[in-house]
Amino acid sequence: MIDKIHNLLKEISEATAHNREEVEQLRLKFLSKKGLVSILFDDFRLVPPEKKREVGQLLNELKNQAHQKIDSLKSNFEGKVDGADKDIDLTRPVILEPGTRHPLSIVRNQIIDIFARIGYRVAVGPEIEDDWHNFSALNFPPEHPARDMQDTFFITRDPDILLRTHTSSVQIRTMEKNQPPIRMIFPGRVFRNEAISARAHCIFHQVEGLYIDRNVSFADLKQTLICFAKEIFGEKVKVRLRPSYFPFTEPSGEMDVSCNICGGVGCNICKYTGWVEILGCGMVDPNVLENCGIDSKIYTGFAFGMGIERISMLKYQIKDLRLFFENDVRFLKQFRDSW
Ligand code: PHE
Repeated sequence: MIDKIHNLLKEISEATAHNREEVEQLRLKFLSKKGLVSILFDDFRLVPPEKKREVGQLLNELKNQAHQKIDSLKSNFEGKVDGADKDIDLTRPVILEPGTRHPLSIVRNQIIDIFARIGYRVAVGPEIEDDWHNFSALNFPPEHPARDMQDTFFITRDPDILLRTHTSSVQIRTMEKNQPPIRMIFPGRVFRNEAISARAHCIFHQVEGLYIDRNVSFADLKQTLICFAKEIFGEKVKVRLRPSYFPFTEPSGEMDVSCNICGGVGCNICKYTGWVEILGCGMVDPNVLENCGIDSKIYTGFAFGMGIERISMLKYQIKDLRLFFENDVRFLKQFRDSW
């Protein structure tokens, strides 16, 4: 028995472990209930009395050594995940794909930037509107067929609460709170109950603009819009204004630009006309100014409104509007731009 204990003392002093699992095996072998040390303690009864002292001391030493060794091996692996240090390759290059701005945000920021350079500030307003700000203040009489031009999503009827169909509602909010001069643009999301197709969606984005001061004329409107078209599409773009109708402007117009998808030859985007409509505009109707507490005998102004999707489609030659809303990264990551 004495030899056996000596052998085990040697074994425990030389023991090593490469991971927690090996430490645990050592503990089981020496110190568990059925481990070597407790078996030896059981056998201690059989030791003749004159040897009991010597064997007892040795046995206690074995037990203490085993405890010490196992504790110290265990502490080597404290707080470490097995194998972690060898599996991390600190020299491996980091492959991080930077995100990209959504094309609609890029174009919206470009539009804001162009108008900011000629003195326009940005204002935003609520997407859920009342009848007054979306229709009545804008000179849409009740039951007037012009309301049908914009297929409205109503949230409640009587009182009419709805999803705004244009950001002209923010023009009203701005005029109600400010006296001229007012020179502002109104970017935002708008809603119309239309069937979703390559050319139409029930949600889209607009930037509308408003300039009110003394002596603002149609010539100012025309010059501002021509300047905008050249900034956004390039010097070579051709522009034309056609007469149109909106209840809140008089006279009203629509502006077309030469189709840059086919270069004016004719394609399905420009419906083979060579021209694409990009915005509505006009001189603010005096009734609208009066509705907002602005004296129409002193002030005149112009307003315009454009769809960001339409302009983005032309700029980037995108043929299907639905792509803007699907968030397919293969589409989105093509737009790397600093705007
Ligand atoms: N609000 C109109 C629309 O959404 C656009 C517009 C704005 C037209 C301002 C004229 C003047 O269709």
